[in-house]
Amino acid sequence: MQFETRCVHVGVDKDSAYLSATTPIYPSSTFRWDDLNTNRGFDYTRSGNPTRRALEENLAALEGGIDCRATCTGMAAIAATMHLFQPGDHIIAGHDIYGGTYRLFDAVFRKMGLEFSFVRMGDPENVRRAMTSATRGVWIETPSNPLLNIVDIAAICRIARAGNAISITDNTFLSPYLQRPFDHGCDIVVHSTTKYLNGHSDVVGGCVITKQKDHSDKISYLVNALGLGCSPFDAWLVLRGVKTLGPRMEAHQRGAMIVAKFLQANPHVQRVYFPGLPDHPQHELAKRQQKGFGAMLSFDVRGGRPRVEQLLAKLKIFQLAESLGGVESLIEYPDTMSHASMNEAARREAGISENTLRVSVGIEHPDDLVADFEQAFE
Ligand SMILES: Cc1ncc(COP(=O)(O)O)c(C=O)c1O
Repeated sequence: MQFETRCVHVGVDKDSAYLSATTPIYPSSTFRWDDLNTNRGFDYTRSGNPTRRALEENLAALEGGIDCRATCTGMAAIAATMHLFQPGDHIIAGHDIYGGTYRLFDAVFRKMGLEFSFVRMGDPENVRRAMTSATRGVWIETPSNPLLNIVDIAAICRIARAGNAISITDNTFLSPYLQRPFDHGCDIVVHSTTKYLNGHSDVVGGCVITKQKDHSDKISYLVNALGLGCSPFDAWLVLRGVKTLGPRMEAHQRGAMIVAKFLQANPHVQRVYFPGLPDHPQHELAKRQQKGFGAMLSFDVRGGRPRVEQLLAKLKIFQLAESLGGVESLIEYPDTMSHASMNEAARREAGISENTLRVSVGIEHPDDLVADFEQAFE
């Protein structure tokens, strides 16, 4: 089946009693056993649930994995993968990853004995140099948040494998419609399903997708042991959202390219960060590795924070809000919002300045989005 067909059909059929066209929500916390040795595949919803299972089968098929566990947030998915490691293990991550992931690694898992190095992953050599005999994991996020740097997944995964480390990619920013890390040699893929996979800004969720049996067994054990699974209702919402992933991503991308070109030509804008623009330093890599450029972009406004505040106050369609990947366009200020969990030095080191704004382009008509920026800049 082609990708769009898998979005609509895989996993969905769970109702043999009435043959409903969409997956029922099974809110039951527990399931009856036929006898002391037999149940119908589910016994307790923390361990497994038919609605959640439908979503997991669907997402595994979209990424090309063998299994998936759907979690209550993206952070829960990331936390589950970190529990694959032991105290003393060393993990290499990009210096400009999502602020919440940085916080989880730096402030929570460091205390539990894991060691982290944050390197500029744009150059794979920096990963090679950071590898030690204790390195067991490499954390990839591409495009990065919020400056849309691209990481060469295949090159980094080769380095990880040569050093006996597993590679994990956060594929939230592009979704499997535009990028499939397994095709580039990655071992595990995570998502915040809160973003494009659900796509309607009405649920928080996450998932871990695996392609090897030992990883899927361990993740399945951990998600049950730690109690990280998402609720049946949330699973149902994401499953409904994911059916339109392909057409939504096309609409998102169309708008993003038009908005990026408009901003680049605007005299009030100092710099635009969007891999779809030919002058993006990794435009060629993005073209090779991704099926499209996505719909996240950032830009630096001339004039510092007062100018940023003026602009935000005047925008009407773009909503000042964190998160991304929903049908509505959002704009946010990484310094005090999405990346506030990083300290200022780490933000500046990552290239986030007090002029930086991040945009999640929705699926509204691009003319309206450009007109909104035009009137706000005036
Ligand atoms: C790239 C990325 N990964 C993970 C997360 C965490 O996801 P959640 O907010 O669903 O826990 C986010 C949230 O913004 C994100 O942008």
